[in-house]
Amino acid sequence: MSAERHDALLRHMKRAVRLAVRGHGRVEPNPMVGCVVLDAGGRDVGAGFHRRLGGEHAEVEALRRAGAAAKGGTLVVTLEPCSHHGRTPPCTDAIRAAGVARVFFAARDPNPAAAGGAEALRRAGIEATHLPCPLADELNAPFLRRTIDERPWVSAKWAQTIDGAIAAPSGESRWISSPRMRRAVHRERGRVDAILTGIGTVLIDDPQLTVRGVTARRTPIRVVVDPRLRLRADTKLARDAATGPAVVVAVRPDELEQRRDRREELEALGVRFVELPPEPGGLSAMLRALARDFGVHRVLVESGGGLLGAMVRESLIDECWVVLAPTIAGSASAPRAVRGLEPSAPASMHRRRLAGSWRRGDEMLLLYR
Ligand SMILES: NC(=O)c1ccc[n+]([C@@H]2O[C@H](COP(=O)([O-])OP(=O)(O)OC[C@H]3O[C@@H](n4cnc5c(N)ncnc54)[C@H](OP(=O)(O)O)[C@@H]3O)[C@@H](O)[C@H]2O)c1
Repeated sequence: MSAERHDALLRHMKRAVRLAVRGHGRVEPNPMVGCVVLDAGGRDVGAGFHRRLGGEHAEVEALRRAGAAAKGGTLVVTLEPCSHHGRTPPCTDAIRAAGVARVFFAARDPNPAAAGGAEALRRAGIEATHLPCPLADELNAPFLRRTIDERPWVSAKWAQTIDGAIAAPSGESRWISSPRMRRAVHRERGRVDAILTGIGTVLIDDPQLTVRGVTARRTPIRVVVDPRLRLRADTKLARDAATGPAVVVAVRPDELEQRRDRREELEALGVRFVELPPEPGGLSAMLRALARDFGVHRVLVESGGGLLGAMVRESLIDECWVVLAPTIAGSASAPRAVRGLEPSAPASMHRRRLAGSWRRGDEMLLLYR
């Protein structure tokens, strides 16, 4: 393939990725998928994306838009087209029926039930080529995490001052970020399956962990990591466990047994429990239990440094959303976003890659993966 053609195809693939992202919060646990159809002359004649779980796949929407112009043309899609009957018929059938001559896909489908699409296309005489694209890898990472590792994709979010404080020395963190930034966070809350925090944050901030002030695409459950079952019945979370989104508390099995009174008191309020096995591996087992028992595929962690430190140590944080506020706390006793790692030198610090940055007035939102 000529460099010129490769660059043109990558441009279409990037557009397909941007379209795919629009399904975030509506399609999971399905992958986000975007697609662009070109006619035989290479002109863009139709595009589409997977809009909601159970709805049309991206390829089908794009082909419907392209109509007869797809014949002899090219289809560019972020994920290998499926060749199985799932919630919808196989996309490979639609591609064949439209008379498409060649398909470029950015990632192979890791789901054994859906894989084999490229092979099915080739058997039908359609050229099917893997076209690697870093932007599509970013898009597909959460789906691959869920499918290959069988645990949710975990995003951590915190707001910090320029000098790295996430609260005043008193523990008071309301508010480090502006109302505008908090609205952006609420939008992300409304696209995940669970908001997770630590008991330290619950006892200091008494948060509700609900989506407010924006339209939610899904209603996340609220999870508290509370190994010793310190959650009190008079917290906001416990008080509206029966009427609001589910509240699930992760507790060590021995504590759940020993603290029967508190457990029953919370259960009567509608609080549910999940086991938190001892370290190492306890938090990871808890995440897999949330996926299995509560259908949690995407988690937003909004905890303090104690829990985040433990999760970073166990390599359970897939991405960090950091709000950088234009303030300086200037106190050694102000809490930090991540605690307890104690590296011996800069070389042994956990390293992340900047995957995105957005400026909002004097604040920055940084995405590290
Ligand atoms: N600015 C922001 O974006 C933001 C966001 C959230 C919170 N905060 C601030 O963060 C502060 C609270 O931080 P924090 O560190 O005390 O609270 P936290 O991280 O929310 O919770 C800490 C608790 O998690 C449990 N935990 C820690 N490591 C664990 C592990 N390996 N396995 C299982 N459980 C584990 C421990 O419970 P036990 O002690 O019971 O064992 C620990 O006390 C507050 O000042 C809050 O305002 C700021």
